[in-house]
Amino acid sequence: MKTIIEPFRIKSVEPIFFTTREERTEILRKADYNSFRIKASDILIDLLTDSGTSAMSSNQWAGIMLGDESYAGSNSFFKFEDSVRSITAMPFIIPTHQGRAAEKILFTILGGKGKNFISNTFFDTTRANIEFSGAEAIDCVCEEGKHPSIPAPFKGNMDISLLRKTIEEKGASSIPLIMLTITNNSGGGQPVSMQNIRDTRKVCDEYGIPLYIDACRFAENAWFIKLREDGYAGKPVPEIAREMFSYADGCTMSAKKDAFANIGGFLAMKNPELAVSCRNLLIITEGFTTYGGLAGRDLEAIAIGLQEVMDEHYLQYRIRSIEYLTQKLVEAGVPVMQPAGGHAVYLDAREFLPHIPVYQYPGQSLVCALYEAGGIRAVEIGSLMFGKYDTAGKLVPATLELVRLAIPRRVYTQSHIDYVAEVIIEVFNKRNELKGMIITEETPLLRHFTAKLKPVDV
Ligand code: F0G
Repeated sequence: MKTIIEPFRIKSVEPIFFTTREERTEILRKADYNSFRIKASDILIDLLTDSGTSAMSSNQWAGIMLGDESYAGSNSFFKFEDSVRSITAMPFIIPTHQGRAAEKILFTILGGKGKNFISNTFFDTTRANIEFSGAEAIDCVCEEGKHPSIPAPFKGNMDISLLRKTIEEKGASSIPLIMLTITNNSGGGQPVSMQNIRDTRKVCDEYGIPLYIDACRFAENAWFIKLREDGYAGKPVPEIAREMFSYADGCTMSAKKDAFANIGGFLAMKNPELAVSCRNLLIITEGFTTYGGLAGRDLEAIAIGLQEVMDEHYLQYRIRSIEYLTQKLVEAGVPVMQPAGGHAVYLDAREFLPHIPVYQYPGQSLVCALYEAGGIRAVEIGSLMFGKYDTAGKLVPATLELVRLAIPRRVYTQSHIDYVAEVIIEVFNKRNELKGMIITEETPLLRHFTAKLKPVDV
């Protein structure tokens, strides 16, 4: 088979920023060893997130010029609505300025003290929105999803027997909805199989609980189903995506991922009463029902991006580029989540740095080392992001200590990725020199965004 190439050519470029190692050591110190606190102009390759960082197509830019900025009934809204409906078949489609705004609306209405929500794994903003409402967020990912180095085709799956057990324990009436995050971002960008979506639906039906999808990376998930699940190889991706949504009662979506938009999101559902409540809250918090916190031009970009993302040449290149980096790292012996996920490569920091205990945040130590060695920005998805304290103030660590290198869509070329592999391998070869970190300042919710840290013996 020939090399899988980038299925585009480049019309417009922007600079990336070179610094010396000495400069980066100082930048890191001034940023309190938190990659969110580093200026973008001090980064060479920015793999902090694949969210809002995509390169838009010439078609999307053309769409932006057609944006209808009418306050009510904008033409761009109807294009957006058609595009979302063609994939989700949901009758009620509510635009929001990003994914977490959709979550905030949904969980403000359905959440509250005494309520429980279950997912394969909730993303951090979703969990935070649930907990902020006073409700509890419970993850029930399958066993294989908890072991980074053991390959399995659908490590994002819900553990169906654990789901059943949790419903029995908490009581179905306390559970306003069950959510499948596809692909499972916090669990390594791993996909959920169609069979698992169907099985989750079946349990939802048994207990009369609605099923929602966190659809941020629906197209990447659909591509994995096509590649890995029996009976789907010959099906077009849009058909697979429609089938996935056909089992759901609603969805939240950040259009900053699989819609190639720099901003945007939506909430969609089948329940008309719930839609009325959501729209009321939308008007108070986001904007009128036909723009919801977005400009008309953003709605255009999303409408076009949602269709472009299902292009099979694109998806083949996208998934292959993540696999390419994963493979290079596996060959060099670097502990990495396997198989490759959809949008990011996840290093297993616990295996990478066995000499650093979890309460000294091995993932964050690795994030800092990657920046210092090569100007690469990554993010910790481990105990800094998800750790909690028990009543005695002791850290309750996250299930996994991962470092995510998220690949922005259509932005970096193969040589950028080769460079990233070289830097990771260089750090791996000197891993014994890395030190743990301690937190010097933190907030009670979503602390990883703003926390200040320092190396242990500095
Ligand atoms: N759900 C998932 C699975 C996500 O990955 C994200 C965002 C959201 C919801 C929230 O969407 O950012 O538009 O408000 N993930 C980004 C990331 C931030 O870096 O993975 P948002």
